[in-house]
Amino acid sequence: MTCRCFNSIRTCCHRAILNVVTNAIDACEKREAARVEITVEWVAGDRLVHIVVADNGEGIAEEDIQRIFSVFESKKGSRGTGLGLPVSQKIMRETRRRHPRR
Ligand SMILES: Nc1ncnc2c1ncn2[C@@H]1O[C@H](COP(=O)(O)OP(=O)(O)OP(=O)(O)O)[C@@H](O)[C@H]1O
Ligand SMILES: [Mg+2]
Repeated sequence: MTCRCFNSIRTCCHRAILNVVTNAIDACEKREAARVEITVEWVAGDRLVHIVVADNGEGIAEEDIQRIFSVFESKKGSRGTGLGLPVSQKIMRETRRRHPRR
């Protein structure tokens, strides 16, 4: 049996990670040999999980990196709301606030 707290963390993380993975897939749209790689590392001592999503798409310009976590910041025209990353960031911060590491 899984506890309600675990299910809530799982749902939140699923939403946030899905947002990031969808961005990686979108970024590779025009690539012939598109590649999205997801690495999960469990850091037992720190009770942390590192999830790295990498793609070989267009990349993000240095000057845009600060902006991409702002609401409505999107380069996808009508296909993107520009809410994916700010919402993902908020989800992760809230989850961490509600379930601090013990
Ligand atoms: N992996 C990536 N490669 C290149 N650019 C990215 C990547 N991830 C995010 N971006 C840039 O950051 C912008 C904001 O991403 P965000 O997820 O917040 O919104 P979106 O993907 O445009 O819209 P939505 O999430 O609603 O579909 C994207 O429009 C894109 O320009
Ligand atoms: Mg997105």
